[in-house]
Amino acid sequence: MKLPFSPKTTNEEITQNAPVVQVAPVVPPTPAVPKSSGFTIPKASKPTITRPNDTVGLGIDDIVAPASIEINFDSIQVGSVFYRTLFVAGYPRFVVPGWLEPLINFDHSLDISFFVYPTEARTVLDDLRRKITEMEAEISTDIQRGKLVNPSTEAKLEDAKSLQEQLVKGIERFYQFSFYITIPAASEEELNSITRRVESTLASILVNAKHATLDMRKGFLSSAPYGKDVLTITRNMDTTSLATTFPFTTAELSSDTGILYGINSQNDSFIIFDRFSLENSNLTVFATSGAGKSFFVKLESLRSLMMGAEIICIDPENEYKALTEAVGGEYITFSFSSPSKINPFDLSQVYEKGENQLGLKILTLHSLFKVIMGQLTPSQEALLDRALINTYRAKGITQDPDTQHLEPPLIEDLYKALIGMEVPDAIDLASRIEKFVKGSYVGIFDQQTNIDIKNPFTVFSVRDIQDTLRPIAMFIILDFIWTKVRKDVKKRILVVDEAWHMMRYEDTAQFLWSIVKRARKYYLGLTTITQDVEDFLSQDIGKAVVTNSAMRLLLKQSPAAIDRIAETFYLSQGEKQLLLAANVGEGILFAGPHHAPIKVVASAEEYKFVTTKPSDASTKPVALPLQSAPVSETVALTQPEVPLT
Ligand SMILES: Nc1ncnc2c1ncn2[C@@H]1O[C@H](COP(=O)(O)OP(=O)(O)O)[C@@H](O)[C@H]1O
Ligand SMILES: [Mg+2]
Repeated sequence: MKLPFSPKTTNEEITQNAPVVQVAPVVPPTPAVPKSSGFTIPKASKPTITRPNDTVGLGIDDIVAPASIEINFDSIQVGSVFYRTLFVAGYPRFVVPGWLEPLINFDHSLDISFFVYPTEARTVLDDLRRKITEMEAEISTDIQRGKLVNPSTEAKLEDAKSLQEQLVKGIERFYQFSFYITIPAASEEELNSITRRVESTLASILVNAKHATLDMRKGFLSSAPYGKDVLTITRNMDTTSLATTFPFTTAELSSDTGILYGINSQNDSFIIFDRFSLENSNLTVFATSGAGKSFFVKLESLRSLMMGAEIICIDPENEYKALTEAVGGEYITFSFSSPSKINPFDLSQVYEKGENQLGLKILTLHSLFKVIMGQLTPSQEALLDRALINTYRAKGITQDPDTQHLEPPLIEDLYKALIGMEVPDAIDLASRIEKFVKGSYVGIFDQQTNIDIKNPFTVFSVRDIQDTLRPIAMFIILDFIWTKVRKDVKKRILVVDEAWHMMRYEDTAQFLWSIVKRARKYYLGLTTITQDVEDFLSQDIGKAVVTNSAMRLLLKQSPAAIDRIAETFYLSQGEKQLLLAANVGEGILFAGPHHAPIKVVASAEEYKFVTTKPSDASTKPVALPLQSAPVSETVALTQPEVPLT
């Protein structure tokens, strides 16, 4: 934003009063001493009580007033406090919203006052016209004399013309603006040192401030809360520039409870809150690869675990292993050769009024098999439905809850049921799942479940599952976790790292979305981490996941993704720049209606567990602190001991 060209310089207006050194002691008059009456004894022995004010002649003003006010050239001393007023004489040419932020958040108390005077556009236009003519004359004279044109005059002329145009069109209005800063301090030395700091802060935002020398009384009054501008040192501003001086720019994301998320890079305050206190506890994280997404989520998990939340995580990169080991969690690896199994046909055995558990399970299985089998015609869908019902029935399981504790069928049973239907379409379907029953994919999801989530920190690794199978594996694991979450409601965080895998298929995306929507009801906060912004946000479901996440973190973005991000998160130009230029672990955190720039920080101890940089490998702890048992693949450990870092 550009500050309008000033047709009138402010310095002319600096009041040049004669030096006033005024000492105004407020000394109460000595109370009249009653004349001694010699040896006479007063008649009435009872003393008369008078109100002290009556006796000494003091008004209420005298009582609240400071003992003395001493006005010096460059400071004013009120009681024991010294004050110095600065006025702003020069402004930068360009300003951005919140440009006064360093001053507003200055870490010493300052009395700041702004005065805004609306002005008649006509007088300004007259002034402008005169100035423009003068400057044009100056330029043409320079040209005639063969002199180089003064570039600063050219710049001013350009500004004046654009301002003139905007004023004429009524796009902008015109104001006079005055800006005073009064610095309080306990001593003269402190006053001088704070003044220097304020001046350098102002210089850093290209604001030129001057001492209101010889005018300290007026300066003091102008920044006292009387709404009276007695200094009247003004500068003109247009509407847009004026709007940028709005002082309430910082969003404090600090509350008394919760965990530390990072440091507000705007004012260095801590960002602390409890995600379970928001309207929902979901979090989405978007950033380029290596920007610190997993790092942030791991830190959050570690800190939330200490605050009593349970953590369940799906880890496609084997990134959470060190952390899991450090906190004594359980790390479950899914691969063809690992002993951990999940049977997608498991029934939740959670009974909610009006819900048909078997029906819901069959719906979920439909989605799953659509991902596994690919495109299905309506008649194939009907066949699949019938085959699923038959498969359960063959095991004695019906809609009756009492039958649902029986051993569930396996994928092999479905395969057999399809073959048994003896129609070409069903045989076609059977052939599409054959590889899970007797082909190359045997060994992961074709056996009864042998794991459980008992550990408060449980991570499922799917790295060793091949790429095409990963969304299917994530789907099955999520379904397993979701069952657990509903069965036993507790404060939980479910992390889905690299969640864009789930967005690759309509049905897996739908499933993720259904968890996002219902998580709050089960005291669950779902964290989705995505580096593929385009993939995620180009789908309605991706956008809906974002809208249904009260917490959102944006770290470094690529130029290719920034526009999509800016559109989804309503980012300003400045925020876009911040994200493009962000360092590792820096970005913007949104929590409910607030957002603030964040810097994610970890203690040295935490860093060791959450980093995955190969160069940090040597600093990784070899022996795990406070950990008593080895990490088991299948058997849950007892309550972990958490390192108190
Ligand atoms: N806030 C941070 N402070 C210090 N180092 C960080 C921070 N965030 C990330 N890193 C470093 O960058 C590496 C990559 O971060 P990571 O979170 O794994 O990236 P990604 O965004 O791809 O998940 C981490 O292993 C860690 O070493
Ligand atoms: Mg990552």
